[in-house]
Amino acid sequence: MNILKKLWCRTYQMAFRMVIPILPYRQPELHDSLDSMADIVRSRGISRILIVTDQGLVRAGICRMVQEKLEAAGIAYAIYDGTVPNPTIQNVEEARQLYLDSQSQAIIALGGGSAMDCAKAAACRIARPRTPVRYMKGILKVWVRLPLLIAVPTTAGTGSETTLAAVITDPEKHHKYAIMDFPLIPRIAVLDYRVTTGLPPHITSTTGMDALVHAVEAFIGRSTTAYTRRMAIEAVQLIHENLLRAYHDGQDAEARRQMLRAAYCAGAAFSQSYVGYVHSVAHSLGGMYGTPHGLANAVLLPIVLKQYGKAAYRRLALLARASGVVREVKSEKLTAEDFINWVEAMNREMQIPSHLDDIRREDIPAMATYAEKEGNPLYPVPVLWTRRELEEIYVKAMK
Ligand SMILES: NC(=O)c1ccc[n+]([C@@H]2O[C@H](COP(=O)([O-])OP(=O)(O)OC[C@H]3O[C@@H](n4cnc5c(N)ncnc54)[C@H](O)[C@@H]3O)[C@@H](O)[C@H]2O)c1
Ligand SMILES: [Fe+2]
Repeated sequence: MNILKKLWCRTYQMAFRMVIPILPYRQPELHDSLDSMADIVRSRGISRILIVTDQGLVRAGICRMVQEKLEAAGIAYAIYDGTVPNPTIQNVEEARQLYLDSQSQAIIALGGGSAMDCAKAAACRIARPRTPVRYMKGILKVWVRLPLLIAVPTTAGTGSETTLAAVITDPEKHHKYAIMDFPLIPRIAVLDYRVTTGLPPHITSTTGMDALVHAVEAFIGRSTTAYTRRMAIEAVQLIHENLLRAYHDGQDAEARRQMLRAAYCAGAAFSQSYVGYVHSVAHSLGGMYGTPHGLANAVLLPIVLKQYGKAAYRRLALLARASGVVREVKSEKLTAEDFINWVEAMNREMQIPSHLDDIRREDIPAMATYAEKEGNPLYPVPVLWTRRELEEIYVKAMK
């Protein structure tokens, strides 16, 4: 990257880092059981509510668990269950329409990142009826207060229950992008491990690796704070201790509970300290091929970390030691390499492939363009890459 562009990116990132203390970051009010759902809703004077979810959660009986709580309390509800993985603008518009038709007063975002993001973006459209989704792409484009959002994560991955982001796909343009603004942080999050015990192993693994990527990218970036470093370390420590347990035994209540906490901590870390090129490349793959987000991230993480090389050694080594992933005393380089080896070993044990079959060479320039636009100048990555340098990541991921 040429020196002027580098200077521009780093100045932009520094400006954002300097204003972190005065920005209106907040955390959702946390609850640990669905049993408090009805009280939460009633105490806010809400009598009609929209549940935004997906077909998988309806089939798994998880939506029913929420419905029962609402029915017992005499709260009327409508259900939007059309959300697809990598939720689309159409999903957002349909959810918004149902909210209006059912005269709902609040939204329960029930699901993984896809349903939660669909709900968040629908809330943006409800609050800003004249602004199409694509105009809210990027940072600080929403501004207004949203209808009350109650997030109930059913995967332990995205951390969307605490982040200021919603990631939406425009299928016509094969473009997946984030809306990022403070009103999108849900007011309430219910972290009830019971809704995650039925997650199939391949979703437990990839969503758990997504959480790991959030923590790692936030920690090795240049815009950390004491708080985000602490949250990232806690997330990696919990993932190190619990992800394989949850993968091998989905009914392990303690592992599931701790993984929900890990995803939350990682979400809190990256909400203030951003992600990096793993995410910008993963989003472009999601937009082009519908590649599941966690899968793309898991495959890309070791590739991107190796490509950063020595620029990331110090911070990776710090993270590896503080989280207990690497316990022996070694040089920064060897500790960082051990950390990357651990990521690869986790992928192997959970049968996550080391490469992605979907990638077609002719699509790489378009995807790298999207990835470059998403990453630069916003993400405070250890090394800045151009579109051409990003293209190498796709090539490495397809081999
Ligand atoms: N907003 C953010 O801050 C943020 C952060 C990272 C990722 N994301 C986005 O989140 C999306 C990915 O979310 P995800 O990884 O959680 O997956 P997902 O929401 O797409 O869900 C994947 C599949 O798992 C099923 N599922 C979910 N919970 C289940 C359960 N408890 N039992 C059985 N099946 C269940 C769903 O029905 C779905 O078919 C992507 O679009 C990604 O870009 C958002
Ligand atoms: Fe993610």
